[in-house]
Amino acid sequence: MGVLVTGGAGYIGSHMVLNLADAGETVVVLDNLVTGFEWLVDHRVHFVKGNVADADLVAKVIGDHDIDAVIHFAGSVVVPESVDNPLKYYRNNTAATRDLIETCVKGGVKHFIFSSTAAVYGMVGLEPVSEDAVLHPVSPYGKSKLMTEWMLADVAAAHPMTCGVLRYFNVAGADPQMRAGQSTAGATHLIKVAVQTALGHRDKMSVFGDDYPTPDGTCVRDYIHVADLVSAHALLLDHLRKGGESTTMNCGYGRGFSVDEVVSTVKAVTGIDFAVEHGPRRPGDPASIVASADRIKALGWTPRYDDLAGIVEMAYRWEKYLDTRNDRPSIY
Ligand code: UFG
Repeated sequence: MGVLVTGGAGYIGSHMVLNLADAGETVVVLDNLVTGFEWLVDHRVHFVKGNVADADLVAKVIGDHDIDAVIHFAGSVVVPESVDNPLKYYRNNTAATRDLIETCVKGGVKHFIFSSTAAVYGMVGLEPVSEDAVLHPVSPYGKSKLMTEWMLADVAAAHPMTCGVLRYFNVAGADPQMRAGQSTAGATHLIKVAVQTALGHRDKMSVFGDDYPTPDGTCVRDYIHVADLVSAHALLLDHLRKGGESTTMNCGYGRGFSVDEVVSTVKAVTGIDFAVEHGPRRPGDPASIVASADRIKALGWTPRYDDLAGIVEMAYRWEKYLDTRNDRPSIY
């Protein structure tokens, strides 16, 4: 039995690979290296460079490595980019994924786990959002992921393949052993931007909007440590392999922090008082989005790193490690 991890050279995928390899699983990574890095892929696993829509290649990997489960991370993830270039998102997150799913069904793959996103909910209130909430994605990114959720529900009903969908909230941090971390060039995510500013890679950073209906006026998010996120995948894989039903689950801790709180935490953890300006709102940002985590906790998920300062500290350590590499990914 083997597990195919698409996007395993990317941020979250590389952490999934570490989790699976540490557990003694046979793992194959398929990644086209458009945003991922081969050096992030753990040396204990097989690496194949290619695209998920390449049916011949994927069929060969499934056959050669006796793949029973696919964990599909490969995709595009930048919300503002999806607004400017929606067809890229419908191709990578929807059309290419359709082709991958078809190859998996034909190849007899038993389980499929898909990286979805809190962006499928769209604008929500200040309360934690449950999986049963109305789905009304506002960005092409969220829509492209939701379309794949729908495909998987139909496929799971029609074919002998069970499907697990995880809706990620705001993923941050790095492997506690510093074997992987967020390395994407031109990252836009808050914690990454803030630690890069602390390190002097940026002159200053902006807080996008301070007039939201939240306690301090800045947006509230549910920041989840990447190691806890991948442990949720491992748990879900175990559930499906034991005959559990297809399911969809939020992946967040169920509590939120504001942008100002995150910035203060980065300053406290790094001991560096960097320049922060309060600018206009960023289009498409919900005021608050926090997970209701009841469903995944009922599956037995027990997070180990639910501590914002700890998440920031690991992100900071990884950023400093990247500074020591000659091939450091570009900041912009
Ligand atoms: N922010 C700033 N300044 C920055 C960067 C971000 O103020 O330089 C703010 C944003 O406006 C937002 C918050 O920090 O209010 C978090 O922004 P991120 O870009 O870090 O993350 P998002 O909440 O926009 O997006 C994340 C994931 C998406 C997912 C979404 C669901 O990256 O994939 O959560 O809520 F869809």
